[in-house]
Amino acid sequence: MITYQDLVNLESEYIQSSLLTHHEFKLLFFHIVGKDFNPVDAERIDDQFVPILISALERRKNGEPIQYVIGSWPFLDLNLFVDNRALIPRPETELLALKAEKLINKIEKPIVCDLCSGNGAIALYLDSKFSSSQIDAIEISAAACDLIQKNKKYLNSKINVINNDVIDYLASLPDNSIDLFVSNPPYVCEADYYSNYSELKYEPSLAFIANENGLFFYYHMTPICYKKQNYDGYLLYEIGEDQGSEVKNILVESGYSYVEILKDYNQLDRYVIGKKI
Ligand SMILES: C[S@@+](CC[C@H](N)C(=O)[O-])C[C@H]1O[C@@H](n2cnc3c(N)ncnc32)[C@H](O)[C@@H]1O
Repeated sequence: MITYQDLVNLESEYIQSSLLTHHEFKLLFFHIVGKDFNPVDAERIDDQFVPILISALERRKNGEPIQYVIGSWPFLDLNLFVDNRALIPRPETELLALKAEKLINKIEKPIVCDLCSGNGAIALYLDSKFSSSQIDAIEISAAACDLIQKNKKYLNSKINVINNDVIDYLASLPDNSIDLFVSNPPYVCEADYYSNYSELKYEPSLAFIANENGLFFYYHMTPICYKKQNYDGYLLYEIGEDQGSEVKNILVESGYSYVEILKDYNQLDRYVIGKKI
């Protein structure tokens, strides 16, 4: 048996020598032991948990994100499997999904495409809110698609997981057929990616890097989205905080109306929205 005092000592050893926080230790402890980390619930813990806890703490000490160490993480009211096959969905993307939800809440059977879907968070969230929706999740990485499938099965979702390049997928759609395109595509230019490499190296580089100074997907997807978009339908993008005016111009030049830049919770430019009228 290991005592609460031993666990406190273990925690402080890892907090001092790594990026681990008290909150993260509590999350890991609950994940592994199934009890809250406090002197009552964790007064004495079976020794069998110790090597498992230490191996998780070592992964965190080496810099692996806590989300991957735990293997699941909340996205709004869903709990999703997360691992190194796809980006860890960020809080900004939760707000993107909420904005998307508002845009389609008056449509009886919304037809939606989540372009560059990662672990499927946006598509899965929207599907959970609209029982008669038709939602395609398009993702080029076969490994990420396997993760979407795992989440889809766990959530009993009906999304269509499509392993394809977004540009090829968009070209294959009938004109004027989609109510909402929503996308958080890769938007980091290569130089910025490598200057932040130590923070990002555990997630797939394919999720971050985009050519044409980070704007590749906005330049190439937007004109096709416009063509394939239903009248009165919307295109909603997540963007890098310094990309607002360029992405806004791309939407305007592609034909979209009411184009707006919207802010995230930190008051940074984070989304661009346009409507086809
Ligand atoms: C920034 S991540 C976003 C993931 C997810 N939508 C989210 O917000 O958490 C971008 C995703 O686009 C995928 N991707 C990159 N190039 C692509 C392409 N040409 N076609 C389809 N998906 C692509 C990457 O594999 C990655 O999963």
